[in-house]
Amino acid sequence: MSEQTPRPLRVGLIGAGLIARQHLTAMSRVPELVAVGISSRTRAKAEALAGEFGLAHVCDSPEELVRDARPDALMVLVSPQAMAQMAAQCLDFGLPLFLEKPVGLSVAEAEEAARVAGQKGVPNMVGFNRRHYSIFRLGLAKVLERGRLLSVLVEGSERMAVARATGRFTDEVLRAWIFANATHPIDLLRHFGGEPEEVCAFATSLHEPLGDQFVAALRFPGGVLGSFTGNWHSPGGWGVVLKGEGVTAEFRPLETCRLTYADGSTETLEPDADDLAVKPGFTGQLRAFAALARTGVLAPPSLDLVGALATMRLAGRLIAPVKPLP
Ligand SMILES: NC(=O)c1ccc[n+]([C@@H]2O[C@H](COP(=O)([O-])OP(=O)(O)OC[C@H]3O[C@@H](n4cnc5c(N)ncnc54)[C@H](OP(=O)(O)O)[C@@H]3O)[C@@H](O)[C@H]2O)c1
Repeated sequence: MSEQTPRPLRVGLIGAGLIARQHLTAMSRVPELVAVGISSRTRAKAEALAGEFGLAHVCDSPEELVRDARPDALMVLVSPQAMAQMAAQCLDFGLPLFLEKPVGLSVAEAEEAARVAGQKGVPNMVGFNRRHYSIFRLGLAKVLERGRLLSVLVEGSERMAVARATGRFTDEVLRAWIFANATHPIDLLRHFGGEPEEVCAFATSLHEPLGDQFVAALRFPGGVLGSFTGNWHSPGGWGVVLKGEGVTAEFRPLETCRLTYADGSTETLEPDADDLAVKPGFTGQLRAFAALARTGVLAPPSLDLVGALATMRLAGRLIAPVKPLP
């Protein structure tokens, strides 16, 4: 490494599950960061990941991790129901903090995390990795080459039966699924459209207490229009359509992009090499986190706790008021 290249930032991980593995895999492509230690609830899982990825320290608590591994930054990757409490605990260390989404299972929990981070002045970032998809950057650029972005259409259909059947999620997480998982596609409304100026939403409930059928119309700054639909008990999935002047970009599934032009011609885009090699968006968000940890500044399109709170609040607007189906 040349003299000008700063040393990699030392990262400590809290949580040793599926997503910790994805972050460690992606980190091997991000020389700005090096994982030096891990702590988790079940030590054996932390030991297994540490062995596989060459982490020097396996610790029994975040306190021990900070003391023994001396990280420059921390990543909180615990289960959704543990995130808010673990965020509060880790904000006390004052180290730059990456937090997986959702930071809380309610707007109130997200508000508290954002408030404490602001009060303590801790640089932070929340893992809305879809914002870092190379395919979105490329597709949006193609739309903007032709003129303005006119409309953003998001489908956020969840597979509730599958989520339930995995047995991986507690009842409180399943109940709060709109915050725990559906915030990924909901956040894409804000990612492409900005802060909505008006939202007109309807929700009904077939099975889920906070709703499982959603439709909303939105108006964004500059007159961009948006729509959100979600049908959580019907086959579907996540999709985004961007409408521009003489061009439509369709991301369905999200990791693909097909452009259709006014003359009927079509074009297919490919994600970049990083997004093809590891979980899409993960290298981009790790690079953004490294820059945050080094400079204290979080650049767009990343979200900090305040930005994540805005997405949680938008999710809250989509569920109120829910009507049970007759
Ligand atoms: N960005 C994305 O696309 C994406 C995708 C999937 C998940 N996620 C998010 O990533 C987070 C982790 O998900 P996952 O799929 O990795 O879950 P997971 O496989 O269940 O792993 C969670 C890990 O956190 C540990 N943990 C739970 N509570 C803890 C506590 N109080 N203190 C210390 N460790 C604790 C668990 O310990 P045990 O081993 O003892 O259970 C486990 O190692 C969730 O918040 C989820 O929403 C994001």
